[in-house]
Amino acid sequence: MSKILAAVAWPYANGPRHIGHVSGFGVPSDVFARYQRMAGNDVLMVSGTDEHGTAIQVQADKEGLTPQQTADKYHRIIAEDLQNLGLTYDLYTRTTTLNHAGVVQELFRALHANGYVVAKTQLGAISPSTGRTLADRYIEGTCPICGYDGARGDQCDNCGNQLDPIDLINPHSRLNGETPKFVQTEHFFLDLPSLAGSLGKWLSTRHDWRPNVMNFSLQLLKDLKPRPITRDLDWGIPIPLEGWRENPMKSIYVWFDAVIGYLSASIEWAKRRGTPEAWREWWQNPDARSYYFMGKDNITFHSVIWPGILLGANGQGDKGGEPSGFGPLDLPTEIVSSEYLTMSGSKFSTSRSTVIYVRDFLRDFGPDALRYFIAVAGPENQDTDFTWEEFVRRTNSELANDWGNLVNRSVSMAFKNNGSIPAPGTLQQIDAEVLAATREGFASVGDLLGKAHFKQGILETMRLVSLGNKYLSDTEPWKMKDDPARRDTVLHTTLQVVSDLNTLLTPFLPHASQKVFETLGGSGIWAAQPTMAEVSEEGSAGYPILTGDYADQLAAWQSRPVAVGRRLAKPAPLFTKVDEALGEAGPQWAPVE
Ligand code: MF3
Ligand code: ZN
Repeated sequence: MSKILAAVAWPYANGPRHIGHVSGFGVPSDVFARYQRMAGNDVLMVSGTDEHGTAIQVQADKEGLTPQQTADKYHRIIAEDLQNLGLTYDLYTRTTTLNHAGVVQELFRALHANGYVVAKTQLGAISPSTGRTLADRYIEGTCPICGYDGARGDQCDNCGNQLDPIDLINPHSRLNGETPKFVQTEHFFLDLPSLAGSLGKWLSTRHDWRPNVMNFSLQLLKDLKPRPITRDLDWGIPIPLEGWRENPMKSIYVWFDAVIGYLSASIEWAKRRGTPEAWREWWQNPDARSYYFMGKDNITFHSVIWPGILLGANGQGDKGGEPSGFGPLDLPTEIVSSEYLTMSGSKFSTSRSTVIYVRDFLRDFGPDALRYFIAVAGPENQDTDFTWEEFVRRTNSELANDWGNLVNRSVSMAFKNNGSIPAPGTLQQIDAEVLAATREGFASVGDLLGKAHFKQGILETMRLVSLGNKYLSDTEPWKMKDDPARRDTVLHTTLQVVSDLNTLLTPFLPHASQKVFETLGGSGIWAAQPTMAEVSEEGSAGYPILTGDYADQLAAWQSRPVAVGRRLAKPAPLFTKVDEALGEAGPQWAPVE
């Protein structure tokens, strides 16, 4: 039994999440965590809402709310969506907790004491009306290279050149049109060059990463510059140093604070459970493994910056040093990043017109149809276009027909003929073969899921589903009225196959798997689901978290003999088919243009 940390990227609290978001971090991490728990490992799955920084400040201004009100609002909405999708977080929390601020400040302090965080003065863009840092991407102007007048402070989308905001001709704020002021401002920088040696050494020990992640990270390593980790912003965690702490206009950069969430959430989980030291088993244990799940725009922060922070705070960078108050912490085992889910070729983004929100999707189609689609047709290895047509086809022909009907036909026949699971007679070769094939799925599919190859895992499982269907059509038990003994053997075999397939599908389709388990006469919790709880910290308002009791669920990654004589339930359809017309028109809330 290994300790496995499933560290899931933290969604921003600047709006509800769309299906592109959950295809990157959500579904893959949960399929992985569910599989690992079923395989007998001790999983700690943590994340939360990412609530600081400019994106939240900007959204708050738009809505006429304070940043904290905005964070409160979207934290709850996002947590509800993730719960309804069935994501089994041990703790889904948020970054505006006192616990989180304390952990972030301790790592900042350690990095500073070890010399990996250094102060520097630089020219920065400030909004004259608010005094806040104006992030590069919020500054617009004319490109000094090609003359395009919609260039952004970080790059020109016309000629593709990287820019500095100060180079723009006629720079202005995209937020309110004002001309930014360029002022000398002092900030702290993470001194990545002094971590480059140890980062390179560590990267060279990583073998199983997806090639896109490794190549990208190695590329970054070639040209590491110090990176600012503070901002002129009054919405963030205070800088824990004399003379800075009290300055409301200086705070820690949101990305520096967010990645530390993996650690602070683990600590919060341990505290809430009444075993405050328990997090150490996932963070200070040479046998523990940690897997980080995210969309590809997050790779840099997880494969280079976060390991850099850990090395520096551990005192293991090129300048040495002392470990932080937490003691030395483990670096990531693996970075599992997804590509983009696109719609008609454009990256799913809330700034474009067609947005498919998780909430709308779940209301109309339920969680397992979305989970299945993302696993089988999502952007695991390349940008992938979402189309309603493809969604309709996969849901109707694969989920409803191939899997749903296999369950329905098998259980209906046994229910009608026997009312319970019939006893098998002597197995024929065809019976033994299909049983062996599905049983082998535990090794083949398990191996794929353990390596985070979800698409191959679901494809292999669906191949086994089609073997189950083929077995039924080859044996034709509905024609065996005159040979009830043989019919019992075939139905017993079919139900065993359905039970095994249901186990293999459980990480992907946890809600449906519970129903199939009950249809086969099982009782109790087969696949546990997350719950929402209201908690609080001393001296602060309450907030919702997601948590769950996953250790007691019955699902285990092995073939489980079906019990002869167990009463069957009359099966209800497992998946409702979606209207074919949806494929062409889309739903009314996200019409196809
Ligand atoms: N909020 C970021 C995004 O949505 C992800 C942060 S992941 C973290 O892109 F771990 F760094 F928090
Ligand atoms: Zn240009």
